[in-house]
Amino acid sequence: MSLLSMRDLSINLARAPSSGKSPGGSAGSSINMVNSLTLDIPEGSVFGLAGESGCGKSLTALSILGILPRGMHATGEVTFKGRDLLKMDEKTFRSVRGHEISMVFQEPMTSLNPVLKVGYQIEEVINTHLAVSKKEAAHMAVSLLRELNIPSPEQRVREYPHQLSGGMRQRVMMAMAIACSPSLLIADEPTTALDVTIEAQLLRMIRRLRDDKGMSVLLITHDLGIIAENAETVAIMYAGRLVEQAPVAELFRAPMHPYTVGLLGSVPAQRGTKLKPVRGMVPKPWELPAGCTFSDRCDFAQEACSAAEPEFMEVGDSGAGRHRSRCIRTDDAPWRNGNNKS
Ligand SMILES: Nc1ncnc2c1ncn2[C@@H]1O[C@H](COP(=O)(O)OP(=O)(O)OP(=O)(O)O)[C@@H](O)[C@H]1O
Ligand SMILES: [Mg+2]
Repeated sequence: MSLLSMRDLSINLARAPSSGKSPGGSAGSSINMVNSLTLDIPEGSVFGLAGESGCGKSLTALSILGILPRGMHATGEVTFKGRDLLKMDEKTFRSVRGHEISMVFQEPMTSLNPVLKVGYQIEEVINTHLAVSKKEAAHMAVSLLRELNIPSPEQRVREYPHQLSGGMRQRVMMAMAIACSPSLLIADEPTTALDVTIEAQLLRMIRRLRDDKGMSVLLITHDLGIIAENAETVAIMYAGRLVEQAPVAELFRAPMHPYTVGLLGSVPAQRGTKLKPVRGMVPKPWELPAGCTFSDRCDFAQEACSAAEPEFMEVGDSGAGRHRSRCIRTDDAPWRNGNNKS
């Protein structure tokens, strides 16, 4: 069963930036940043979302939490436990955010308050959402840090963020995110700033929460190896759209979109496998090519690719879940035998 269902989620920037070229036409017109995203995050599973920088992964995550940047507006449906988050009033949303859905950001320093002790910051989350005494909350903060392998947690809770290492700060953020046992954890590049040992610990922790507490996770990362090892389903995003989605083993075994093929290169996905650069750059949302948005970078593009944007079509079902892709060359799949420009 789905914990979170997204239907045709689009995110538009209401006004054109004032400097530089006028994107998307005249000032005041809206720019489409994320286009008609449809996906389901099942209960108790890790859903991986990958794609190059600027393709809209973080905006998608922020829209789930109702914290899009100023001027951006989401349309469509984001249903969580039967309620549409896009229609939820701010007061109700406040009880969901940090409690039922929480998020770990890439850079912990921007999310921790530098002038408050870390223990206090964790206790604040607990006191806001759970009916426990202050003493109980303080006890929970220490237990959470211990659970996350922070040495001497009783002492650490009395320290300020700058007194902790980057890895410890990230675990404090993680403690805040899981303090109220959320049903959905959004982890946006949670391990980018960490060394491999801490990264492995944090990912183990995420898997344990999924297994023990049935928590679902939206795992956003540039590292396909992390997705291969930790997620059940993976979606690949390009220029604000989903271009491929499949059960993890299926996507790595038989990628069906040239963009995914490009990202994977010939390297098998192991931890540390960063996305392989694909020639060219992700187009700006206001400079998309006609038809398939990937056509100008695709080694397999034909004339027809520029005529219309391909549908996100079902290309298979391995039993573990549907495999969908957005490419008109699915039937001949020329990337399978390494031909290009055919
Ligand atoms: N506050 C903002 N105002 C205007 N444009 C923004 C804002 N935040 C993001 N964007 C633009 O929206 C697009 C998608 O950005 P987003 O941050 O979602 O990408 P991303 O996939 O998370 O990239 P990364 O991998 O670098 O984190 C980009 O073109 C980006 O420049
Ligand atoms: Mg991002």
